[in-house]
Amino acid sequence: MSRAAEAVMTDGRVRGGYPARRMSTKSHNKSFQAPKGTRDFYPEELLRRRYIAETWRAVSIRHGFEEIDGPTFEHADLYTVKSGEGILSELFSFRREGGDDLYALRPEFTPTLARMYAARARQLPSPTRWFCIPNFFRAENPQRGRLREFYQWNVDVIGGQEPSADVDVLECGIAALRSCGLIEINCPVHFNDRRYFEGFASEAGVPADKLAALLVLIDGYEKWSEERVSEYLKQHDLDQSTIKKIDESIRQMGPNRPGFEGLSHTINELEQRGIGSWSTVDPHIVRGLAYYTGTVFEVIAEGERAIAGGGRYDNLIELFGGPPTPACGFGMGDVVLSLVLEDRGLMPKGMGELMDAVECVMRSYSMRPDAFVFSNGDAAAEARVVPLMAELRRGVEAPGYQGRPWRPERYAVRPMHVRTTGKSTRNVGKLLKDAASSNARFAVILESGEHATVKDLTTGEEHKDTPIEKIARKIAG
Ligand code: HAM
Repeated sequence: MSRAAEAVMTDGRVRGGYPARRMSTKSHNKSFQAPKGTRDFYPEELLRRRYIAETWRAVSIRHGFEEIDGPTFEHADLYTVKSGEGILSELFSFRREGGDDLYALRPEFTPTLARMYAARARQLPSPTRWFCIPNFFRAENPQRGRLREFYQWNVDVIGGQEPSADVDVLECGIAALRSCGLIEINCPVHFNDRRYFEGFASEAGVPADKLAALLVLIDGYEKWSEERVSEYLKQHDLDQSTIKKIDESIRQMGPNRPGFEGLSHTINELEQRGIGSWSTVDPHIVRGLAYYTGTVFEVIAEGERAIAGGGRYDNLIELFGGPPTPACGFGMGDVVLSLVLEDRGLMPKGMGELMDAVECVMRSYSMRPDAFVFSNGDAAAEARVVPLMAELRRGVEAPGYQGRPWRPERYAVRPMHVRTTGKSTRNVGKLLKDAASSNARFAVILESGEHATVKDLTTGEEHKDTPIEKIARKIAG
């Protein structure tokens, strides 16, 4: 008899706390296997996971996001408020032995984030920029790209302006894909705005109270079986002809629908930051989660489930007792990203290369910002702030570089950690204090469309009239 079996016989329980009387021989053997849809991480697999997580962390920090985390389980009600049916049907929920409260293992982070923000809204900066890399649990049918436990990188801006905040999170997500060596044709960002979809739906005669159910269906339409679709239609009193009508209007109108101009602000800003070629308007993207209120997007790699998905959720913070606060963000999963990197030969191979990759990524950023960028209020200078920040964070690739994507030689100028102010004042003295309290090494004060003063905040040394194109090299050293 094995020692584990002996333990079951003598104290009535096995590791994990299952009562011995439930242990048939069959389930006993099963308990020696990892549960369906989970993964064991031996050293090599763990390094692979770490390569992805460290890349996410490096990119988040360079883009001025701060790391947070929350509990692994929450009151199940947190998810019934606004996550939507898809996630509710996949909850792993449980009660404490003898307790009444129903808990659920976290299936996603957004409700936790809204709860955490609402609890401290008054003390937190505006905007608040948070990221996290937790594990999540969904009772899905395991398949390629979908497991029951997975890691997901969340990047969110709470309290930011539209569309800049939407583009802030997109820029950060795209930077991670780029950092792994992916290019835009591998995994473009498809985006849309739910508000325009609501227009299609009301023209097709869908009552407002059916909209949430309809969005879930449109999101699931191509992934679900025929039976599931017809069962859902019956359950929500929707008919197939309405769905067809909406689908047709989407196809006919495409992105040229009058009213889609709202997205042109997002497109302009994506272009200003050098990531326009990564993004495409796709009226079919609506997303399955119930809390989205505006922009929605997915990063789609051909032949795979979405690598990432997100959008704007302007009502959620208020719903959890906070002040009305707009917010947007995305989640990127490790499972699909690993598959895409493996398929394209971009995942480090073997322990040596993995160690090298993790180390290179960890050394590629500093916790202290390299630069704190702002303008003196001159209109042309102000217009250069965002594009310059994007440029500094992206770095300059060495011409003709063909090596592994994580090696520092990839860059002629390394990607940098850059921040800016959340304040509306353009008083240079006040903003220099802001720069100092961010602990940045340099302040970059844009004074016109062409020139800036670069101030070393450690020595106080100033370089006036620095041409904008020379700033990156000056700071990178
Ligand atoms: P989501 O679309 O449910 O969004 O998940 C985002 C990403 O997480 C997916 O694109 C996928 O890569 C990964 N993912 C989801 N479920 C699984 C699974 N069962 N197995 C493996 N990977 C999975 C959300 O979770 C939102 N809370 C994201 C968000 C953050 N929206 C705003 N802020």
